[in-house]
Amino acid sequence: MPGLLLGDEIPNFEADTTIGRIKFHDFLGNSWGILFSHPRDFTPVCTTELARAAKISNEFKKRGVKMIALSIDSVADHNSWSKDVMAVSKKADTDLPFPIIADDKRELSVQLGMLDPDEKDKDGMPLTARCVFVIGPDKKLKLSILYPATTGRNFDELLRVIDSLQLTAQKKVATPVDWKPGDKVMVIPSLSDAEAASLFPNGVTTEEVPSGKKYLRYTQI
Ligand code: BEZ
Repeated sequence: MPGLLLGDEIPNFEADTTIGRIKFHDFLGNSWGILFSHPRDFTPVCTTELARAAKISNEFKKRGVKMIALSIDSVADHNSWSKDVMAVSKKADTDLPFPIIADDKRELSVQLGMLDPDEKDKDGMPLTARCVFVIGPDKKLKLSILYPATTGRNFDELLRVIDSLQLTAQKKVATPVDWKPGDKVMVIPSLSDAEAASLFPNGVTTEEVPSGKKYLRYTQI
């Protein structure tokens, strides 16, 4: 079955985009990357998503994350749609700050498992779902989210998960429910108490639970 699993290497595909033809690994370089797909150009939800993505593109840049979108229309359509997007983003005089892949033959969408079988175009062909891939500097898939065409994504949540992915790639911690940067994090279960004590100089606190098991360990980093 086509598609990508966590830990898989993202294929080094070639594609036409609004910044010319790219080889994906070269585009990424040594950076983190986020690839997000859209059902179609000139559609309402997609336009609000791209406008929001454009508005907060500096937040992705600050985190060293290269952004790239994908939709199943041509480069010419993408260029024209980008002007609408930037107008909706209230920055009509600037270019869309990230490229859009033109997957008009749907080859990449099939290869990456991005199609939504419930949403069809006027010819009965499936549209792309709202797929998000976050890729690490090692070109491996760190996170994937798949929304149907009818539900727009939350780009604040994407920044939040990137913060968690980047933190947990560096430190032996995990982020609990609704975590945001600055909140306490959890010590991962594979660390012994002695290892945790030496790794986390700010100390480790353990929440008591009825089982008496000491697995809810928090630290501040
Ligand atoms: C939209 O982006 O608005 C959209 C696209 C396909 C199906 C439903 C909504």
